[in-house]
Amino acid sequence: MWTPNLSSFRGPRYLAIVSALAEDVERGHLKAGDQLPTHRDLATVLGVTTGTITRAYSEAAKRGLLVGETGRGTFVKANLFEDAFPAPSSTEDENFIDLSLNIPPLSVGDPLGQALTKTLTGLAARPGLSTLMGYQPAAGLERHRAAGAAWVARSGLKVDAQQILICNGALHAMTVVFSTLTKPGDSVFTESLTYPGMKNLAHLLHLRLKGLPTDDQGIIPEAFDNACRHEPARILYTIPTLQNPMGTIMPEARRRQIAAIATAHNVAIVEDDVHSFMLSSPPPPLSFFAAENSYFILSTSKSIAGGLRIGYLVAPPRMVEPLATSLRATVWMAAPLMAEIASEWILDGTADRLVEQKRSEAAARQLIATNALAGFRFDAHPLSFHLWLHLPEQWCSNEFSAQLRRRGVAVTPAEAFVPGREESPHAVRVCVGAPRSRAQLEKGLEIIRAVLHETPDPSLSIL
Ligand SMILES: Cc1ncc(COP(=O)(O)O)c(C=O)c1O
Repeated sequence: MWTPNLSSFRGPRYLAIVSALAEDVERGHLKAGDQLPTHRDLATVLGVTTGTITRAYSEAAKRGLLVGETGRGTFVKANLFEDAFPAPSSTEDENFIDLSLNIPPLSVGDPLGQALTKTLTGLAARPGLSTLMGYQPAAGLERHRAAGAAWVARSGLKVDAQQILICNGALHAMTVVFSTLTKPGDSVFTESLTYPGMKNLAHLLHLRLKGLPTDDQGIIPEAFDNACRHEPARILYTIPTLQNPMGTIMPEARRRQIAAIATAHNVAIVEDDVHSFMLSSPPPPLSFFAAENSYFILSTSKSIAGGLRIGYLVAPPRMVEPLATSLRATVWMAAPLMAEIASEWILDGTADRLVEQKRSEAAARQLIATNALAGFRFDAHPLSFHLWLHLPEQWCSNEFSAQLRRRGVAVTPAEAFVPGREESPHAVRVCVGAPRSRAQLEKGLEIIRAVLHETPDPSLSIL
């Protein structure tokens, strides 16, 4: 029979029972479907009245911990969060450290959870709340588009709210743009290495990706100009700020050059700007220099939370309607409730506060990485979630990643970012934001450092 240990709980007994119950569910001592003792039995064991147990069970039911079935008894309810995508903290055990997921570091004290509780409580009391459950225009509600324009302005692009389409994250915005502008078989220019989501999308839409040569400032203008003359591609997909995976930031002068070449060759620019919020004054967007033929994409995934699934797509006015048609064809509209939450956070300063916390955690983690990898070659911005580690002579990226896996550390080999069948560089992406704690990051980096000093094990060669 479940008997709560109330010794560490203060306050009214019935609330202590609820807290003990919640703790036992969280720790896995109680599982969904477990039957709880009858009111009378538990009252006897705890030396309280049955009224206290009735009150405790009813409070626990209100909090979603229990269900009571007349005549059958009281049972632990299925945990709402049990089947959530495992957070890095839960995939990590003593023997596995995941440095492969490009996600923002968790902030201490769960400020996101606190903001969500506050906002949902406020929303719950709002008259007319159910309108957020109805169908809305495909591009989004006016006020959501206006909040999107305010968020986009932080990246240095002043646009009209009418130019914004609310999407389900950046990848969905890309889906909307590419399904509108391309047909199967078309070619798309990218950086020499690109975001794997773009590779998946190209596969889905039957597009060919053509990686362009890059240097430490991004795409090389002469190479782009040359490619425009010889390749049939009419779209450039680029991540000019904190490029994924290489971490480069294209300076303003280079942006002007790339925009001018795109304009001259009538190449549309799809600018993925999901990481620029990390910089307090990023260079002006590439789209600023080619507004007529650019599609600028922002998302709340990295800056606020991946599960919010709100992306802002900025389009030239003439293209808003055709893009809205694709948006309708893919998801009809982004969920208005989520867009409402994102809008509130943008307008009331919550989003800025969450960003600030991410910046300071990223800075601390990059410092740890800089120290841990001293003496090895890597590219990293001090305010980035990831770094690009060049491997010493003896290692190629697949073998190095496999060796790290055997030691319980996951990183992403360069191959994952190669757009076509070009050769891949000998490098890996290391995500400093993914581990649950700085201590876990340090441990993972220590293992990376050790493996960097080793040589591949010939006994592991394939027959
Ligand atoms: C460059 C880039 N673009 C887009 C995305 C996906 O963003 P979202 O989750 O908003 O679809 C990511 C996520 O890693 C990314 O790195």
